[in-house]
Amino acid sequence: MSRVHDALRRAEGTFGMAAPMAGPPIGVAGVMGPAPETGMHGLLEQVKEVPWDPAAEAHLVDSTRPHDGPMEEFRSLRTRLNHLQGLQPLHTLVVTSASPAEGKSFTAANLAVVQSHLQGQNVLLCDFDFRRPIVHNLFKVDRSPGLTDYLQGKASLSEVIKRVSGTSLYIAPAGSAVINPLELLNLKEVRTLVERLPSLFNWVLLDSPPLLFAADANLLSTYCDGTLLVVRLGQTTIDAVTRALGGMSHNNVIGVVANAAKRGELYSKYTYYHNYYYYSSDDKPNDDGERPMEAAAPPPEAVQQENEEKDQR
Ligand SMILES: Nc1ncnc2c1ncn2[C@@H]1O[C@H](COP(=O)(O)OP(=O)(O)OP(=O)(O)O)[C@@H](O)[C@H]1O
Ligand SMILES: [Mg+2]
Repeated sequence: MSRVHDALRRAEGTFGMAAPMAGPPIGVAGVMGPAPETGMHGLLEQVKEVPWDPAAEAHLVDSTRPHDGPMEEFRSLRTRLNHLQGLQPLHTLVVTSASPAEGKSFTAANLAVVQSHLQGQNVLLCDFDFRRPIVHNLFKVDRSPGLTDYLQGKASLSEVIKRVSGTSLYIAPAGSAVINPLELLNLKEVRTLVERLPSLFNWVLLDSPPLLFAADANLLSTYCDGTLLVVRLGQTTIDAVTRALGGMSHNNVIGVVANAAKRGELYSKYTYYHNYYYYSSDDKPNDDGERPMEAAAPPPEAVQQENEEKDQR
């Protein structure tokens, strides 16, 4: 935990807590159960395809630029998670943070993309942030039909899930706005869905609202194998993280993502590797050396696993 603690200490910055989300959601009043699914069998053959056409402002990693800084960092994160998956049942993961705008959606989307680069790895990115959904914007797909529509019995799962053309990445957008997201998330069908999805997807990543502003992520974490906590360096405070973790009814946090670090800010002894990858890319640092994301270098066994993964590709 000392590394995490160190990261959190670094995260403690001059920013105060962000303002709570404003604006009531609009939507349907009643909550019905989803239409009974006949099963997951054959589902992936029925889903529609959408083109790979991410929004520029989404900052999604680009597989044609494999040595870009963010790509390397997300691959390191992928390696760590896949290593953990080899040690314990780990397929469903909530991505959350203490407060708004710390990079939950950015992390969930990029992690989903890099996981899908591995051969034979179906990955599903679910937008369970029914309050401020954004996944549909990142991938430029329709918001509905989505998960809320499925949970209200208005759409089937095969209508909700989209495959990104030519990839093994699947997306489940949030769906139509609803008045009470928490009520919907409390349906037993949500747990059932989350538990059944790993029969089709090796990784199911759930984007979610911030822990301190809604109970949604806390609830979702009880359905999932693990929780990934995003902290934004220079913005997230230790106090916020402490309160967020303290409020979790089922603390299954398996790791912390240190988002938006400057190059070399963490673990400078690994600078050699960063430089190595960095200068093999066309993408040069800006003047103050800032890169979109910096994460800790993986442990030796994880590096070995990553090399094995590369060999398989
Ligand atoms: N490492 C990064 N590099 C560049 N831009 C980033 C990074 N992390 C987040 N952003 C940008 O910051 C903004 C907030 O990120 P994001 O939407 O992922 O936060 P969030 O925690 O999901 O917010 P919310 O609480 O509203 O759901 C977005 O415009 C995103 O593109
Ligand atoms: Mg978000």
